[in-house]
Amino acid sequence: MCGIVGYVGPRDCSDVLVSALTKLEYRGYDSAGIAVFENGKIEVAKSKGRLSDLVEKMKKEGKPQGHAGIGHTRWATHGEPSDVNSHPHSGRRVTIVHNGIIENYKDIKQFLIENDRTEFLSDTDTEVVAQLLDFYYDGNPIRCIRKVLHEIRGSFALGIVFADRPETVYAVRCESPLIVGQGKGEAFIASDVPAIIKYTKDYYLLEYGEIAVLKNGSVSFCDFHGRMVEKELKTADWDEDSAEKGGYPHFMIKEIHEQPTAVKTTITPRIENGLPDLSECGITPETLKSFNNIFIVACGTAMHAGMVGKYVIEKLARVSVTVDIASEFRYRDPLIGENDLVIIISQSGETADSKAVLNLVKGTKAKTLAIVNVKGSSIAREADMVIYTHAGPEIAVASTKAYMVQLAVMYLLAFEMAYAKGRIDEEKCRQLTGELVKMPEVIEKTINSISTVCQFISTQLITADSLLYIGRGLDYALSMEGSLKLKEISYIHSESYAAGELKHGTISLITDGMPVIAVATQNSLLEKTVSNIKEVKARGAMTIVICDEKAEIDRDAADYMVRIPKISQTLMPMVATVPMQLLAYYTSVNKGNDVDKPRNLAKSVTVE
Ligand code: AGP
Repeated sequence: MCGIVGYVGPRDCSDVLVSALTKLEYRGYDSAGIAVFENGKIEVAKSKGRLSDLVEKMKKEGKPQGHAGIGHTRWATHGEPSDVNSHPHSGRRVTIVHNGIIENYKDIKQFLIENDRTEFLSDTDTEVVAQLLDFYYDGNPIRCIRKVLHEIRGSFALGIVFADRPETVYAVRCESPLIVGQGKGEAFIASDVPAIIKYTKDYYLLEYGEIAVLKNGSVSFCDFHGRMVEKELKTADWDEDSAEKGGYPHFMIKEIHEQPTAVKTTITPRIENGLPDLSECGITPETLKSFNNIFIVACGTAMHAGMVGKYVIEKLARVSVTVDIASEFRYRDPLIGENDLVIIISQSGETADSKAVLNLVKGTKAKTLAIVNVKGSSIAREADMVIYTHAGPEIAVASTKAYMVQLAVMYLLAFEMAYAKGRIDEEKCRQLTGELVKMPEVIEKTINSISTVCQFISTQLITADSLLYIGRGLDYALSMEGSLKLKEISYIHSESYAAGELKHGTISLITDGMPVIAVATQNSLLEKTVSNIKEVKARGAMTIVICDEKAEIDRDAADYMVRIPKISQTLMPMVATVPMQLLAYYTSVNKGNDVDKPRNLAKSVTVE
């Protein structure tokens, strides 16, 4: 997703903007630029490509010298990646950076052209907003911004500078997240906390419809109606190191290794006297007991965590659970009513499709529960209840530790709900919770024991054009995540498939040497899964089996095996996740891909 930054203060603004933008690179982008007040004029430097290309360009053409300005990394939505389409964009007296989408930009552009504003240089919706701001600008920035905000539609955040308001930066938030950092004698705007954590941990969350004015290192706020707003100053509970690689070659492998700590930090405050206790999230056994039907709605990896949650909650709590992709759920006119619980899972808490579901459900009698990693994010703040995962900042676009802690929360929820509903007794609940408490250690042991074999197997995958990930039951739910993890960073086409369903058509795809990765951790289904493995192997597939260390699998069934520690069937997904992550990681590394910032992808998809 695009990244916005801004600065007002005593430092070299260009350096601050570029430094802050580098901390947003994980969001994915294809061009970058800055606009800085220099000697009372707005100087713009921007280019297609990486931030390093922008820095090189400024070295050649001169770096804007000043102490106030805005910056941007662009993830193209309207108009191809190019110098001219990169941000910032300007009118005659106004320059802006933008994250999100302006849905009615064509109508606005037509209006401007009809009013003799025809000097458009780019194909972007952003430039249209800059020109509209300029069209209405009468010397009063707030009035001008408010007027424009009543005319544009879409999800967006803006950083704005007015040529006749030197050393002042304006910020506006609609849907796309934006924070305002407060340092000593300096102030910042940014799409996310990592951008400013080097300078300050103190920040304000800009709410929907609020405008911030940064001047002389201090900040003031008003709402769409121009009324002044007092805001609570928050403090980030992690530091710059947490968001750095810490000696690892990539954020993704660092975050895989952080999983034991992430799980421990997430579950410990939610376990009291050996039993799950979600009361710190405002969720009591009575609350959980009241739900007869659960919808889990999310996108991508978060949805896959929901799939595992479905199997576990239905098996233990005997409550019906349906799992939907957010972008589909909102259009299927779901039957949601009283005593229903809608769980929105989201690492970023800003995914537009998931947020849209929250808005849809708010009009019903159902309750909403957000399972979110980013504190204070939109989904977290708008849900009835929230369980924060404590994975820390997840920088790699491919989610790993966030998925793992989402699984952990699914288990806590399932155990407490099953116990509250009398489906399991205290002894069983205590036993399951005790196993969950051991998971950090088991995950650590798994990472250390299988990294080498995963590294080797990945060398057998890199030439594949396409592969299948298969499994049954919980293993099928897991295979969905294994498939996404692999394809999103290795660029090898991959599809997850219910192992038992292969024979109904898809097995026709099997060709000589085609990799088929089978997740086979559910002993109760092992025999059938092994039959499916043999079926594909008999047709030429190269079979890779992920199973527990005691699973009895014919050697002729598997070309390669990844054996993982054996724990209770219910919790095996948290262990089997590790080889899937490592296979994806090493395959991507071996293919020489940009592991942390895979092509076309963004860390948080804040557009629908
Ligand atoms: C996961 O590896 C992907 N980056 C992507 O599928 C992600 O899980 C999805 O976009 C949902 O994001 P969220 O959890 O922040 O809502």
